[in-house]
Amino acid sequence: MDAAKVERVYSSYAKVYDQIFGKIFHDGREHAVRHLALAPGERVLEVGVGTGLSLLFYPPSCEIVGIDLSDGMLAQCRERVRELGLKQVSLVRMDAGAMEFADDSFDAVMAAYVMTAVPDYRKVILEMIRVCKPGGRIILLNHFSNGNPVIAALEKFISPLCKQLGWRTDLSLATVLDGTLLTVIHKQKVNPLRFWHLVKCLNQKLPAEKTANGNGHSS
Ligand SMILES: C[S@@+](CC[C@H](N)C(=O)[O-])C[C@H]1O[C@@H](n2cnc3c(N)ncnc32)[C@H](O)[C@@H]1O
Repeated sequence: MDAAKVERVYSSYAKVYDQIFGKIFHDGREHAVRHLALAPGERVLEVGVGTGLSLLFYPPSCEIVGIDLSDGMLAQCRERVRELGLKQVSLVRMDAGAMEFADDSFDAVMAAYVMTAVPDYRKVILEMIRVCKPGGRIILLNHFSNGNPVIAALEKFISPLCKQLGWRTDLSLATVLDGTLLTVIHKQKVNPLRFWHLVKCLNQKLPAEKTANGNGHSS
C-alpha cells in the first residue's frame, strides 16, 4: 500500500471505524498505555492515532501528540478530543515514515495496530526510534506473523486480501526489529483469541553527542 491508498482506505472507514474496531481491540489499547508507565510531565507520541480510541487511557498529567496520515481518521479524533475535553492532546497530520519532529522529542512512543497498516514499516520503526529519547519506551501493539508454519502459510495466503482492506498479516516482529537498537523488555498476548501482541521495547540508541556524526540517527 502506498500513502495515497492508506489515506483513501482509512478515510473511507473513519465514520464506522469505532463500531468495527473499537471494542474488539479495546483491551490491547488499555494495556499498551498502562505499560508505557508514563510519569507526570512526560511527553508521548502516538503514531497512527486513528480516531483516538486510546486517548482516554493516558494520564492527564502527560503531554500527548497524535499523528496520522488520514484526514478522515483525524477529523473523528478531533471530535473525540473536543467531546472528552482532552486539553493535553495535540493532533497533527504527518507521515510516520518521515516525521517532522526533532531527534529525542519524546519520552515514549506508541503504535497501536499500525505497523501492519503503514506503507513502509522499516521507515516507521526507524523514525519512532529517532524521535524517542535514548532509554525511552517504545510500544508496538499489533498482530505479528506467527512462528507456526501452518498459521504462517494461512497469514501469507490472506495477506493480499487484507491489504485491500488496509493492513497486512504476514509481518513478523523479528522482521520489524531486525537491525534496530530496540530491546524487548515485555511481551504479552492481548485481545480476544490472544492473537495480538503487546511488545514493550527499550530504546537503546546512543545519546546524540555519543554518535559518530552527532545527529542521533542511529538505528
Ligand atoms: C488500523 S488503524 C489503527 C488506529 C488506532 N491506532 C487504533 O488503535 O485503532 C491504522 C492507522 O494508521 C494510520 N497510518 C497508516 N500509515 C501511516 C503513516 N505512514 N503515517 C501515519 N499514520 C499512518 C492509518 O491512517 C490509520 O489511522
